[in-house]
Amino acid sequence: MLLFPAMVSAGRKSACLTCHPSHHTGRGSCTGCHRGNDRSERKNIAHHGLIGGRYAHFTIPGSKVVEEGKKLIGAGGCRRCHTTGDRGNRLAADLDKLFPGASPEDVFKAIKNPVLYMPDFHFVDTEIVSLVNAIASGARQETDRQREIVQVVHFIDDGLARENSFVRLCGSCHKLLSHRYGGLGSGHMGPSLSGLFSEFYPATFAGKTRWREDNLKRWLKNPRKVRPNALMPPVAVTAAELEQLTDAMVVPYQEKNSR
Ligand code: HEC
Ligand code: HEC
Ligand code: HEC
Ligand code: HEC
Repeated sequence: MLLFPAMVSAGRKSACLTCHPSHHTGRGSCTGCHRGNDRSERKNIAHHGLIGGRYAHFTIPGSKVVEEGKKLIGAGGCRRCHTTGDRGNRLAADLDKLFPGASPEDVFKAIKNPVLYMPDFHFVDTEIVSLVNAIASGARQETDRQREIVQVVHFIDDGLARENSFVRLCGSCHKLLSHRYGGLGSGHMGPSLSGLFSEFYPATFAGKTRWREDNLKRWLKNPRKVRPNALMPPVAVTAAELEQLTDAMVVPYQEKNSR
């Protein structure tokens, strides 16, 4: 029987409205912002894959929550390891590609309980919610650029990595996520040096100068000459060791990123 075909036509009323009032009207459908299934009046089906209210702010242009998250991305230096909003290094996951594969809760947890080579920023929950919204907003605005296929290889445990002079000379105090050798070092007394030579590494050296081989050399010779309060002791490195450890700091796609 052909009963009420209009019920399933484009003009059909969203089943979300059985239980919820309408809001943000004129900005699209409920599922456009929250996903879920608006053909079912059963909550567990309707809510399948739902984006909750706190993670939906990225859908609102000019959202304060997104702005807050973007500030934290800048302050945290996330881009020295990740790409987000089409900018940043690719030493770790491209955050523009997380959605829709991951749920906002997964992303929240990844920031709250970071893996070994991701720093623990000790963010409070509201800050993490802002970050998740900012990441989602960055992914949304991303143009369909040609994406290179990047192999993110971490935790390689071969001789090359173990014998790298970074591990021997720096690894007791620092960690380094390297493109070539994976994660190197295990110390946490000094900061993670991932992406050190890239524009996305937070500027700390003598003001705003970017880290390069020459000022790194000066720093290693005597950190106190560069920063009077430095805690790092001088580290003697041979030219060959320096070459090997700066080689581990090479960041792929640097040319593209520093345009
Ligand atoms: C059968 C009733 C029912 C239907 C149908 C329903 N919801 Fe809900 N929804 C609820 C109830 C009850 C809550 C309160 C929290 C809970 O119990 O999950 C809720 C909570 C929510 C929340 C807040 C969750 C959060 O964590 O912020 C959102 C967003 C939401 N619903 C969106 C939708 C959308 C979009 C649809 C349609 C695709 C929909 N709901 C369909 C009953 C329903
Ligand atoms: C343009 C995007 C957008 C659309 C369209 C939209 N929402 Fe939301 N929704 C949000 C945002 C953002 C929030 C977080 C609170 C706020 O800003 O309103 C939210 C929050 C919610 C909440 C949680 C409210 C609370 O007090 O915790 C529910 C429930 C909800 N939306 C249901 C719906 C339903 C049902 C529809 C369709 C009628 C809908 N939304 C359409 C963006 C949207
Ligand atoms: C020193 C490098 C580094 C920095 C800085 C860093 N991360 Fe990560 N992050 C990682 C690594 C390593 C992983 C594990 C996944 C991988 O290998 O890409 C990861 C994983 C993640 C994931 C989960 C990705 C997934 O595939 O599920 C999210 C989300 C994330 N980071 C967000 C952030 C945010 C937000 C910041 C800034 C506040 C940040 N990260 C800063 C290294 C870093
Ligand atoms: C005994 C521990 C220790 C060793 C070994 C060590 N560092 Fe450090 N390093 C630190 C500490 C602590 C800091 C934090 C800044 C300070 O000194 O107050 C630091 C800071 C740095 C900085 C500045 C980072 C910034 O954001 O300002 C660089 C670059 C650096 N170390 C490179 C190296 C390299 C390369 C090696 C190996 C050749 C190395 N360090 C070995 C403890 C160490």
